[in-house]
Amino acid sequence: MKIVFFGLEKSDQSVFLNSFDGADVSFVEEKLDENNTEKARDADAVCTFVDSTMDKNVLDALPNLKFIASRSTGVNHIDCKYAESKGIKISSVPAYGSHTVAEFTFGLISNLSRNIIKANDYIRDSSDFNYFPIMEGFDLQGKTLGIIGTGKIGKNVLKIAQGFAMNVFAYDLYPDLSFAKENNFKYKSFNEVISSSDIITLHIPYSKENHHLINRENISLMKKGVYLVNTARGELIDTDALIWGLKEGIIAGAGLDVLEGERELKEEIEILSSSSRSMKMEEYKILLEDRILIDMPNVIITPHIAFYTREAVAEILKVTLNNIKGFIANAPINLVK
Ligand code: NAI
Repeated sequence: MKIVFFGLEKSDQSVFLNSFDGADVSFVEEKLDENNTEKARDADAVCTFVDSTMDKNVLDALPNLKFIASRSTGVNHIDCKYAESKGIKISSVPAYGSHTVAEFTFGLISNLSRNIIKANDYIRDSSDFNYFPIMEGFDLQGKTLGIIGTGKIGKNVLKIAQGFAMNVFAYDLYPDLSFAKENNFKYKSFNEVISSSDIITLHIPYSKENHHLINRENISLMKKGVYLVNTARGELIDTDALIWGLKEGIIAGAGLDVLEGERELKEEIEILSSSSRSMKMEEYKILLEDRILIDMPNVIITPHIAFYTREAVAEILKVTLNNIKGFIANAPINLVK
């Protein structure tokens, strides 16, 4: 049994090193993509994170592969349908970060409402302890938060919002009506939520079906001065439309932990100076648009760290260890359906 781990921090490797009797365990520092599949050519199992690309080409280059252990909740970096057609099983970590990501979401919301980062940058640059209009914020109390997706994370966001005395409207493909009753909020249609919210926050998985869920058409329906927060997946928002909405003043600000094209952004210099990795025109466009967003003063961007706390990482490692043990014992758990 050969198991190859990609992109795992050195300090986390000891969790897996002597945990699987008789298995050949190895660690590759980089993430997995089509440029380094030879490092797992005869692997029975690979363990990756969301920065790896496990598309058709990569899966075809791993002929012995039977199992993928993803150290994440979202698995949109894997072509799951194709993996299934090849009999490859996938386990994920279903619930490590529901409080973690919800807390971070409110970190972004508080920074948007109170200009904490701007004020801190100002005082660092100037040593001037006066305050100016650019630092004036707004109260969250009494404002309406629109939650798109009331799964594990969305539910925790809702509870925090109620602690701030916000009104909440939510949209979900599968509304949890008893949770809504217990927690005294209403589900509305998608258009109703986005057109009546002061702040909109996304908490749904990405799929081809909801690609660019937030687009120019529905940004036009939003309240002027709305704030948009995304800790789910970058591809849920059409970046071009977001920039348009910000420039038009429909969207007053955005807090984004995830970006469309974040993978390319991570390797920007490598990609631009390499002849082996070519990008499509559309990818270049998104990369440029991401740069525009990063430079906008009313946009807060973080590098996909909503999950990244001591507690959540420990949980990811524990669950992943058990997922791999389950596969070895022929009793897989936490399978992606
Ligand atoms: P979950 O599976 O518990 O909840 C997702 C909810 O979205 C479900 O209630 C589902 O019915 C709903 N939904 C699915 N598609 C929808 C659509 N098109 N429209 C409306 N509702 C839809 O997932 P959880 O744990 O709450 O996570 C949500 C997402 O957050 C993950 O899929 C992942 O992409 C992202 N995430 C981001 C992290 C980060 O570090 N930034 C860390 C962990 C998760």
